[in-house]
Amino acid sequence: MFDTGVGGLTVYDAVRVQMPDAPVIFAADYAGMPYGTKTEPQVAARVAGLLGRMCERYQPRLACIACNTASTIALGMVREVLEIPIVGTVPAIKPAAMDNHSTVIGLLGTQATIRQQYVDDLERDFANGKTLLRHAAPDLVDEAENKLRGKPVNRDVLKAALEGLENQEKGLWLDSIVLGCTHFPLLKDDLMDVAVFDMGLSPDLRFVDGSEGIARRIADRLDGQEFAKSGPNRFVVTGTVEVTKGLEATLSERGFGTPEPF
Ligand code: DGL
Repeated sequence: MFDTGVGGLTVYDAVRVQMPDAPVIFAADYAGMPYGTKTEPQVAARVAGLLGRMCERYQPRLACIACNTASTIALGMVREVLEIPIVGTVPAIKPAAMDNHSTVIGLLGTQATIRQQYVDDLERDFANGKTLLRHAAPDLVDEAENKLRGKPVNRDVLKAALEGLENQEKGLWLDSIVLGCTHFPLLKDDLMDVAVFDMGLSPDLRFVDGSEGIARRIADRLDGQEFAKSGPNRFVVTGTVEVTKGLEATLSERGFGTPEPF
């Protein structure tokens, strides 16, 4: 599994529930973080290069790009060159729109994700007749990274992200918000709390993310295969492992060994 940082752990957690015996190598590209501010060619080159090297080194049966920015930009490209199944993570607009009650859907993602053609296509195919409001909330990535390091979440940053949707035309009618960056579900409870108590939004507001669906898809693609887990899962990082300082507890709770350099 691959992300820039701990965001992909939201997908990893769902995979562990469904496939507790599957051995996982989780790669965090901290040396390239954030992807959200990069250009499409920069993200594509990085993802294709790194994922290619990781596949050669670790020989996985399947790779999951647990990052919306990387998936919406580079999924098609890496599928063409790598010979294993690749499961991506794209904004959960389809499940959000399938709820008949939803009419105004918000999308929070990185700057790069919300401008992708991939998102335009999801909107056209699944949210036809509904309103999709998009807002880039890159600061939530840092909040999620901090939260998993035991630091307090800054409610003003969360509020600003939600206001970015609420202040748009039809924003007052928002009924669901798609968390279109894998870091954001780590803040789901905090976002709900800020929405209801600091902003007076309805407690019926739904926050939607794709992690369970992605885990189901991974389980489907590996259906029938046997696993023999021989130790803790591995957490590998690009750049220096120092960046994982503060994550020890959350990683060991999640069944990882000591972080290793890639
Ligand atoms: N977790 C990544 C995503 O889902 C984004 C974080 C970043 O900008 O690096 O888009």
